Amino acid sequence: MDLQLSGKRALVTGSSSGIGAGIARLFADEGVSVVVTGRNVERTEKVAADLATSGATVVSVVGDLATDTGAAHVADVALEAFGGIDILVNNAGGGSEGDTVSWFEMPLSEWTATYEKNVVAAGRLIHRLVPGMRERGWGRVIQMSSAAGIIPTSAQPDYGTAKAAMVNLSMGLSKTLSGTGVTVNTISPGMIMTGLLQGFLAKFAEKRGWGDDTDRAAEYVLKGCGQTVNRIGQVEDVAYAVAMLASPLGGFMNGLNLHIDGGGTSSIY
Ligand SMILES: NC(=O)c1ccc[n+]([C@@H]2O[C@H](COP(=O)([O-])OP(=O)(O)OC[C@H]3O[C@@H](n4cnc5c(N)ncnc54)[C@H](OP(=O)(O)O)[C@@H]3O)[C@@H](O)[C@H]2O)c1
Repeated sequence: MDLQLSGKRALVTGSSSGIGAGIARLFADEGVSVVVTGRNVERTEKVAADLATSGATVVSVVGDLATDTGAAHVADVALEAFGGIDILVNNAGGGSEGDTVSWFEMPLSEWTATYEKNVVAAGRLIHRLVPGMRERGWGRVIQMSSAAGIIPTSAQPDYGTAKAAMVNLSMGLSKTLSGTGVTVNTISPGMIMTGLLQGFLAKFAEKRGWGDDTDRAAEYVLKGCGQTVNRIGQVEDVAYAVAMLASPLGGFMNGLNLHIDGGGTSSIY
């Protein structure tokens, strides 16, 4: 099936690694011109160079989306390079980069930092790039939430609440953009094998006295998470869903929150 993505222009935040890099790769394979972006220069340039090798039109830009200046720089470079962005994937984010994920030990400044890099970062790029989509009468905004945003846990209060806000933001924006040709949807991944998940599993193993046995941690977490597909997700599992939402063929899907979690969300809601 031709997803009709060829010739579209996309900005994928957090595409210097993990899920974002997987989305950028799939877009490039489908003929989309892609802006690759992250904070780490080496990783960002490496992903962009890999995509360019296979003939894709790629631009790379480094910026911290948790700041106004960083986000403005990323948007400026993207607009300058492609003249407009048709598909914005607000994928960058993650939880606290501090040492603790527990409710009462994590400083509140970490809650703010997590909100900044997930929710406000998305808002900054929406402000800059979505008015152009509305004027052209076509666009796609796809936001990365998490299973943690739907199923609150007893740890990581910064992360679950920020990811829940991403879902609310998407639905509200889809209503704001009613009838404009711009759709806004959310994806809530479960466990996807990336550096982020590896870091979580490493902390999990260490806390239980299992040393650096992340395989044991993965097996344990998988057993207890209620998934009905018995494996950890891969970045491609998320990228396929993003491509479907981004495609012109996906234009009747709006305000959705797609759970890409191997059946881990045990609720009909
Ligand atoms: N992996 C999972 O199991 C899972 C599950 C649910 C949801 N998610 C969500 O999926 C998204 C991608 O996660 P991932 O697993 O692919 O993690 P990852 O490999 O750690 O990638 C995170 C990406 O976000 C970028 N980023 C982080 N903070 C940023 C900031 N302030 N400004 C600009 N870029 C920033 C990173 O850039 P640099 O590295 O260059 O700094 C990196 O490219 C995140 O929003 C995460 O919360 C992941």
